[in-house]
Amino acid sequence: MNVQTPTHTADATTVEEGLAIQEAQAVIDSESATAVAMQDTLLTPRFYTTDFDELDAIDVSSVREDWDQLIAQMVSDPNKGHFRKNEDWDHIDWEGMDPELRKEFIDFLISSCTAEFSGCVLYKEMKRRGNNADITQLFQLMARDEARHAGFINDALREVGVAVNLGFLTQKKKYTYFRPKFIYYATYLSEKIGYARYITIFRHLEANPEHRFHPIFKWFREWCNDEFSHGEAFALLMKTDPKLTSGRNVLWIKFFLTAVYSTMYVRDHQRPAFHAALGVDPDWYGQEVFRKTSEISRQIFPITLDIDHPRWMPGLKRLQKASTDLDAAKKRGGVMGTLGKIGAGARAAMAFVSLYTIPAKRHTVPENTRLEPAY
Ligand SMILES: [Fe+2]
Ligand SMILES: [Fe+2]
Repeated sequence: MNVQTPTHTADATTVEEGLAIQEAQAVIDSESATAVAMQDTLLTPRFYTTDFDELDAIDVSSVREDWDQLIAQMVSDPNKGHFRKNEDWDHIDWEGMDPELRKEFIDFLISSCTAEFSGCVLYKEMKRRGNNADITQLFQLMARDEARHAGFINDALREVGVAVNLGFLTQKKKYTYFRPKFIYYATYLSEKIGYARYITIFRHLEANPEHRFHPIFKWFREWCNDEFSHGEAFALLMKTDPKLTSGRNVLWIKFFLTAVYSTMYVRDHQRPAFHAALGVDPDWYGQEVFRKTSEISRQIFPITLDIDHPRWMPGLKRLQKASTDLDAAKKRGGVMGTLGKIGAGARAAMAFVSLYTIPAKRHTVPENTRLEPAY
């Protein structure tokens, strides 16, 4: 039998293969992109670590039927080979691109790549440390997908002579420790909001193809289906322990919802040229993504944020303004810079508290969590 080692991340069937391929390409990785990916601020994607033994102890027998179905679907691997350039990959005139757009778009790709890779590293580590067959299988499958996603973004970046050095990041980027329950909330949400973001852009560009200024957006539908399945897995994991989504933990859920939504809002507003090129109003886009994410997260969270509350939009805008002022103060430096930082930091905190204290909407969580991507 002739077994060929894949040479492209799209064909890698394990995370180890996917990473080895990227490692081999790392010779042309650029320092500046890796430096951007190394940044650790409230707004940039982080790397996480957790209590892997506690995660390993999860017993999925109470959700066995749904679990087996989901795993079978992931094992069947419908997206194998998908994440590679093909004849749909149009030529991009990077030189002719508006410099602001080019800068923001590259920043978008680097931060997306870092976020994909952050998931990859966490899932791979869980698979490596665990002994529980159900858990390690799930995390191996999810790490496989994230390695492909990161590899594909790196393909796109390489065309502009930019690439993120993933091996370097794994070793050198700071890891933030989160207890497993916080990993569930944060990761579940980031998978589901990732789905909502990608599908919203995909549907918008389907209707307005003249705004598709880069071919990578054509890959977003299959992409977001992967993220959707990952989110499903975390919903099932949370379902195994009802305490995670009741009592005082509901306050944590509210905190994570508020933090994830408001971070996305602020981050997106830092890329005006990118959204203008897509023909997307970032306020509209934010609300649309929040609406979809809220609708999906009802599957497991007993509350949703009231994003139509009169304090919601003004709160987001104040937070965004404070964040811009904070950046400016940091750049200014000196005494005035320090004073500016304190003032803007306090305003950001107040805006966040105002968002967090908006009464949430409660509902009864359905008996069965499983959902299919419907947007
Ligand atoms: Fe991903
Ligand atoms: Fe994912």
